[in-house]
Amino acid sequence: MTSTDLLDDLADLDPDRAGVDDHVADLLFRDARSVARFLDREVPEDLVRRVHDVVRWGPTALNTVPLRLLLVRSPEARTRLAAHMAEGNRERVLAAPLTLVVAADPGFHRHMGRLTPHAPQLADVFAADAEGAERTARENAWLQAGYLVVGLRAAGLGVGPMGGFDKAGVDDDLLAGTGWRSLMVVNVGWPDGEGTHHARAPRLEWDEVARTV
Ligand SMILES: Cc1cc2nc3c(=O)[nH]c(=O)nc-3n(C[C@H](O)[C@H](O)[C@H](O)COP(=O)(O)O)c2cc1C
Repeated sequence: MTSTDLLDDLADLDPDRAGVDDHVADLLFRDARSVARFLDREVPEDLVRRVHDVVRWGPTALNTVPLRLLLVRSPEARTRLAAHMAEGNRERVLAAPLTLVVAADPGFHRHMGRLTPHAPQLADVFAADAEGAERTARENAWLQAGYLVVGLRAAGLGVGPMGGFDKAGVDDDLLAGTGWRSLMVVNVGWPDGEGTHHARAPRLEWDEVARTV
């Protein structure tokens, strides 16, 4: 079945019964937890690359595609990163099979001739507006970070996102020379059981988050 067939099938469904397939909903969201405990099993770079090959197609403003990833694997790099983590996150970075520094590239406009062939002049617009470039990079890399979390889960991996770390410290150390700005650190691997001791916390209800006008 092609994706077009699938879209046709979904479009044909009775709107009162249509929704996210239960297995997909469980895998990506309902059973997926923020993982702190992983099995001792290496995560091959090629698997992360294949996930990226998929999630890179998620939309970004003007097709800016500013997400950048640093894969932290060696004991030496892991120790360097752990030094920048908040205390409660330090051990997790040292113990995870693989850790990603998820970052934004404010220099994304270097690629815009290729990424926005319909409007190549945008490269010069962003080159002349460092603040706008940085804001655009951060907003859209965050959006891509969400796609990445869901994509890793879709490949059967568990994900432990962490914002508790010294971002300037990581930028000056592990990201030195790239110009990238770190956004979050994500442990990746196969969850050990549920992957966490924490009870699942509730989420807000539809009526609390949505308004129709
Ligand atoms: C951007 C972001 C930053 C986070 N930062 C941390 C962190 O620094 N330390 C930590 O233990 N968990 C962190 N978390 C995990 C959240 O607390 C967790 O995703 C949330 O409580 C939902 O948990 P659940 O997915 O198991 O339901 C972070 C999650 C996200 C998405």
